[in-house]
Amino acid sequence: MPIIEVKDLVKTYKIIEKEDGIKGYFKNLIKPKYNYVTAVNGINFNIEEGELVGYIGENGAGKSTTIKMLTGLLTPTSGKILANGIVPNEKRIENNKNIGAVFGQKTQLWWDLPVIESFRLIKKMYKIPENEYRKNLKRFTDILDLGDLLEKQVKNLSLGQKMRCEIAATFLHSPKIVYLDEPTIGLDVFVKENIRKFIKDINKEKKTTVILTTHDLNDIEDVCDRIILLDKGQIIYDGEKQKFKDTYGKYVIAEFIINSKKKNISNLDNAIILEENEKSLKVKFMHDETTIIKLMNEISTYCIIDDIHIKEAELEDILKEIYKGVHKC
Ligand SMILES: Nc1ncnc2c1ncn2[C@@H]1O[C@H](COP(=O)(O)OP(=O)(O)O)[C@@H](O)[C@H]1O
Ligand SMILES: [Mg+2]
Repeated sequence: MPIIEVKDLVKTYKIIEKEDGIKGYFKNLIKPKYNYVTAVNGINFNIEEGELVGYIGENGAGKSTTIKMLTGLLTPTSGKILANGIVPNEKRIENNKNIGAVFGQKTQLWWDLPVIESFRLIKKMYKIPENEYRKNLKRFTDILDLGDLLEKQVKNLSLGQKMRCEIAATFLHSPKIVYLDEPTIGLDVFVKENIRKFIKDINKEKKTTVILTTHDLNDIEDVCDRIILLDKGQIIYDGEKQKFKDTYGKYVIAEFIINSKKKNISNLDNAIILEENEKSLKVKFMHDETTIIKLMNEISTYCIIDDIHIKEAELEDILKEIYKGVHKC
């Protein structure tokens, strides 16, 4: 049975259309005009226990709205969510016992307290058994390198240090599901890698189900096996990450380092020239239309090839093309 079931989920926000000036102010009070924004527009998915799901899409696609409904913070306009067999917004306290959540840079730690005191409060709140608390604390301190931070006040931590503590706090009560909405925003690459490793390790050890939204697609490349791609409130892809890349990213970009060019290369069989100068030639081609050997043979009639750098399409490249309308999901 899936751990999360989402059926025909819709969220429409009702916003008062504000009119300027004193007249507008009274009009707003007496007879307000409303606008409606449908942020999530009929989505369906199931998630099995232990999955690592990347929930992605452009700004405003409806990711955070979905996460807020899954955590029970927002009530759906229509449709149904079952997480751990519970309707999250109806049983928020029960739901909270099973989940952990990080929302961008909002903190769940107590600002003026040393980190360890926040952890102790979380232990009390969630009634975490002593041995489990100790085990988790030790393990998390090791992976996230929290040793020197535990006695520091949260307000004195850097962004990266705070987020590492935040992630530990989120997983401390061994939640079955963790929702991470932009946990790596603004962090440097080392902290990001540290957090990614933590998520992967804990997922493996405890079968924690993780839903991750992020604008850094390297997070997704590294952590997630499955992606759900949201566009204007609707799911346009849901499946294995690798399959997504195989389907939409069949192309390769190759840079040839060249010398002694006899004339400009204006055209190549089954490849598009992206950039060309005296020292390099960058081309894009499809796996199933030509091969690197064929291109080498063709290019070497124009110049001498010194070296080749090959880059397979990355998630980021493919998504950019999908947003531009090059591919239809
Ligand atoms: N509290 C709100 N009131 C009104 N509109 C909102 C609110 N929160 C989000 N929206 C709108 O809903 C849409 C989806 O937003 P959001 O779920 O935050 O997207 P994402 O997280 O994918 O960037 C956007 O058009 C956004 O402006
Ligand atoms: Mg968001």
